Amino acid sequence: MSIKQTRLAGVAIFAGFVTCLAPPPHAAEITPPATIYAHVCGYCHGTNVGPIILGKHIAVDVIKLYVRKGPNAMPAFRPTEITDAELDALAQWISVSQPSPTEHGQ
Ligand code: HEC
Repeated sequence: MSIKQTRLAGVAIFAGFVTCLAPPPHAAEITPPATIYAHVCGYCHGTNVGPIILGKHIAVDVIKLYVRKGPNAMPAFRPTEITDAELDALAQWISVSQPSPTEHGQ
């Protein structure tokens, strides 16, 4: 193999390697807010552990802050647990939610 051919082969292998890397991320695939709320937040909120947050019209930014910072007895959730896109949708959903008749507490 000539030097030029060797170099071309190297480029071809490299190009093949790059195109084999991870498939493009599916940004649209997020866990729906109602599911996250039911599985994560509803464990405390609405069971008398945390305050009622549905139907309280809490501002989106306040909800996001609580979820990321986790003040006092509330745990913080990292982007690896609830992604930024999921948190955006969740905070919107909670902010405009109606009170839930199955929840109790304050
Ligand atoms: C382990 C229990 C627990 C879990 C799980 C939890 N929280 Fe909380 N949360 C609390 C407690 C306790 C407070 C009150 C904190 C304080 O002293 O201010 C609170 C406060 C809040 C507040 C402020 C409410 C207000 O009226 O001041 C918001 C908003 C909130 N949580 C959102 C969420 C969301 C969204 C989730 C799910 C991603 C979640 N929390 C999961 C326990 C929890």
